[in-house]
Amino acid sequence: MENFEPEIVAFCCHYCAYTAADMAGSKRISYPANVKIIRVPCTGKVDAIHIMKAFEKGADGVYVAGCLEGDCHFKNGNTRARYRVEHVQKILEDLGWGQERLAMINMSAGMGERFASTAFEFTEKIKDLGPSPIKITNTDKHHKAIS
Ligand code: FES
Repeated sequence: MENFEPEIVAFCCHYCAYTAADMAGSKRISYPANVKIIRVPCTGKVDAIHIMKAFEKGADGVYVAGCLEGDCHFKNGNTRARYRVEHVQKILEDLGWGQERLAMINMSAGMGERFASTAFEFTEKIKDLGPSPIKITNTDKHHKAIS
């Protein structure tokens, strides 16, 4: 898996993780290009179907990054997001794909360094895990459909 470059989708809350990514950029703190950010108004808007779609469309890893506990601008959106992430982790585990490809992370808008270190750590973890079996299944299905 030496040359494996994972595709990672990060659902980032506009008020914290997305701003933290911006902060990392303005401080010239780099983070892996593997991480593709999807800005959401609050992590409470991220549903299980969005996470599963990200995997289905080829993500090797997905994380949801929301405000710190108790700091959600919509009261408890990040709590609901954590509940949903845990629910999808259980589904992934039950399907035998492993729950470690999905994570819930909390940070504040000022945590540019944490945004970058999270992106690095998660990318390394997914590199160790290898390509997503969900993606492989989709590729196989595609190959069967065109052959
Ligand atoms: Fe950031 Fe809800 S507003 S997680």
